[in-house]
Amino acid sequence: MPSVAMMAARSVRIPSYPSPRLYSPGTSFASRLHVNRFPASRLPFSRFQSSAPGTEGRGTHSGLSTSWSRGLFRSSQRIRRFFVKFQESQRWFSGKIKALLPQTNMGLGLATIFVGSAGNVVYAQYSNLVREKRLHSALAMGAVPDVKSTEELVERPDVTRAIEYILKPKRNYGSYDMIVGNHGTGKTTMVRHVAHQLEGVLYVDISPNSVSDKTFAEAFAKAFNWTPATSLVDMLLSYWGMGARETADDRALLVKVFKEFRHQAEVFEKNKGRPPVLVLDNVNRLAQRNPELLNILQDIAKDAADDRLFITVFVTSEGQAPIQMLGRSASSRLGEVVEIGDLNDDEAMDFLCNKRAIAESGARDIYGLVGGRVGLLARTANKLNSGLDFPVLAGVRASLLADVNKVLQEAGMEEEGESRRAGLQIASHILQHGRISRRDFYRISGSKQQGNELLSKNVFTTAPRSAWVVFDTKMMEIALRELVDNSGDPTTTVKLPETRK
Ligand SMILES: Nc1ncnc2c1ncn2[C@@H]1O[C@H](COP(=O)(O)OP(=O)(O)OP(=O)(O)O)[C@@H](O)[C@H]1O
Ligand SMILES: [Mg+2]
Repeated sequence: MPSVAMMAARSVRIPSYPSPRLYSPGTSFASRLHVNRFPASRLPFSRFQSSAPGTEGRGTHSGLSTSWSRGLFRSSQRIRRFFVKFQESQRWFSGKIKALLPQTNMGLGLATIFVGSAGNVVYAQYSNLVREKRLHSALAMGAVPDVKSTEELVERPDVTRAIEYILKPKRNYGSYDMIVGNHGTGKTTMVRHVAHQLEGVLYVDISPNSVSDKTFAEAFAKAFNWTPATSLVDMLLSYWGMGARETADDRALLVKVFKEFRHQAEVFEKNKGRPPVLVLDNVNRLAQRNPELLNILQDIAKDAADDRLFITVFVTSEGQAPIQMLGRSASSRLGEVVEIGDLNDDEAMDFLCNKRAIAESGARDIYGLVGGRVGLLARTANKLNSGLDFPVLAGVRASLLADVNKVLQEAGMEEEGESRRAGLQIASHILQHGRISRRDFYRISGSKQQGNELLSKNVFTTAPRSAWVVFDTKMMEIALRELVDNSGDPTTTVKLPETRK
């Protein structure tokens, strides 16, 4: 029984299918040896062929000795038999070749498949190499998109320093972090502006369209320059007309992208001596519409931090997302919490006067109306810069008040709303003391759940790990002051110990 090695060695020796040209009738070796081109009559000693039976040994050539002629005769007979046999076998061979001719097309086909498959192998190798480079470049310097008009940005050195600190983690840092702040405080702008100047940051924006498992995985893949690796097996299967294997489901796609991100994180860590950072912006959208996915991402962040692989930074507005995340056991691995608040007086005036060229008195009016929320300042400045003056401010005020009333309604604080009384009591306390402790806040709310409802609806706000609760916006403060003043309800004024202030 031949061994496998022997058989392999043999198979190597088996010549490949020759091209049909070699068998074409015009050029084949067989055709050159065609029987008609070698008639026996033309052969030497042909005269012996025509000898009549029984005349052997007599010869026709007189003068030749008998023994010589007998020897000559025997030799000629042998040669004759050889040529007869040759002609027979040549005829047989020609027949077989003719039968094989259709199969030579198969030979050509096999050769084509072989060359095509080899081409596929080369292509797969090349495209995977290009892909690897693309993935690598996702963590390069400036891979995070910068904000549009950087010259209009008001400088916030403290915020910049704090963000830079968490975006450049030390080797062996074993936590994930959070950047938190109310809507329009400038989180996205500042994170992108700082991250754009650093290497080792992958930024994923969770837009309203990327909250499902599938669309989030796609957004992540896009930010990471991820495309499926070119699978040689799938390529060859499809090339051979056998169809590719099944495509992965939504979660499987997420797993795949994270798997490769882990790999790139390892490479980065090895080269730079510190872990890279994955920034997930707007995770508050997940808390609202896909809380399960937020849990998964938090668990991934925890595991990656434990493995010292990469650091995740969750960017979120205050409210539901931090409440959800802090309520889980994975919060034990939460490290830095950077809170981004409103611009202070100087920063707000700098923004309005120097970046938006608004006169100081006008700037004061705007600041008095909207406070230091940079998003609102920018919106108001845009309207003012369009040429109008006082009516614009009145218009801004009216639109802000409309927004606030909508929020109050959603939080159940409208007239006769179930949270109206508790909400006004809390507001009254904040107006008196500037803030309220978390403990008193939840106590007046009636329950943890009702308190969280008021926080997640953006009437009041607090930061993770902060012991205090305040108004969500300046306009909310103005609106609630009016409501408290007009309520005439003595129970809205609650007496709480001053020491907690
Ligand atoms: N430092 C800054 N200087 C000038 N304008 C700024 C600055 N930061 C933010 N802005 C402007 O304020 C607006 C809101 O900013 P941004 O979108 O970054 O806030 P955000 O906190 O991410 O809001 P959200 O919670 O809704 O996502 C934008 O128009 C932005 O251009
Ligand atoms: Mg944002």
